[in-house]
Amino acid sequence: MIAAGWAALADALAVGPGMRILEVGCGEGGFCALAVIRGAEAAGIDADPHVVARARQRVPSADLRTGFMEALPWADDSFDAVVGFNAFQYAFDIDLALREAARVLRTGGRMGMGKWGQDSELFRLAVAIGAGRPGALRVQDPVEEAMRRVGLEVSERGDLPVELEVPDAGALAGAVGVTDSAALVEHAEAYRRADGSYRFAAAVTYLVAAE
Ligand SMILES: C[S@@+](CC[C@H](N)C(=O)[O-])C[C@H]1O[C@@H](n2cnc3c(N)ncnc32)[C@H](O)[C@@H]1O
Repeated sequence: MIAAGWAALADALAVGPGMRILEVGCGEGGFCALAVIRGAEAAGIDADPHVVARARQRVPSADLRTGFMEALPWADDSFDAVVGFNAFQYAFDIDLALREAARVLRTGGRMGMGKWGQDSELFRLAVAIGAGRPGALRVQDPVEEAMRRVGLEVSERGDLPVELEVPDAGALAGAVGVTDSAALVEHAEAYRRADGSYRFAAAVTYLVAAE
């Protein structure tokens, strides 16, 4: 995800000294790194041990674990905020992942979510090449509906226009979340620049919610 999106959500959650933050689906720990820079204690979890290893190098002070967001290895009431950036929609069971996030949140704690905004070149490309494949973006975001089902109420929402620039097709595949980059390269041709990099108009949508 784009660093400006992490920063917007960190602002909305007032991430600062003394706060305990958990990022689910933390990937390489971008949001955790920002939380630590802002003086918070950070924890993260991701199902992919390779990205967790990279996150540990990036944020050595964070409590970073390999595991599933549907079964968080932390006690009830452990965090002031739980964040999922482009993450909850990949859960095997989104309702369970949200309930787990709520369980480890202290009373009065808040949940933050970030995702690609739907009205953008990048999102349309991602949907065109990935709809229906495991790990790809979905046309209909299933997370907000799941939030309503589990009793989470959105208190704040923001949309941030951003530009996504990636150096090559491999980095683009990573950003979009697909493993088959052949289809991606074909569909992304219009956004390719002479040096092999890609640039898209994109948007990050972020939400803050609580029970
Ligand atoms: C698109 S990446 C986002 C990474 C990071 N949040 C960011 O903003 O860069 C989604 C991440 O969710 C992880 N993931 C998918 N399903 C998961 C699950 N059920 N439990 C934990 N992590 C999961 C993937 O391994 C991947 O690293």
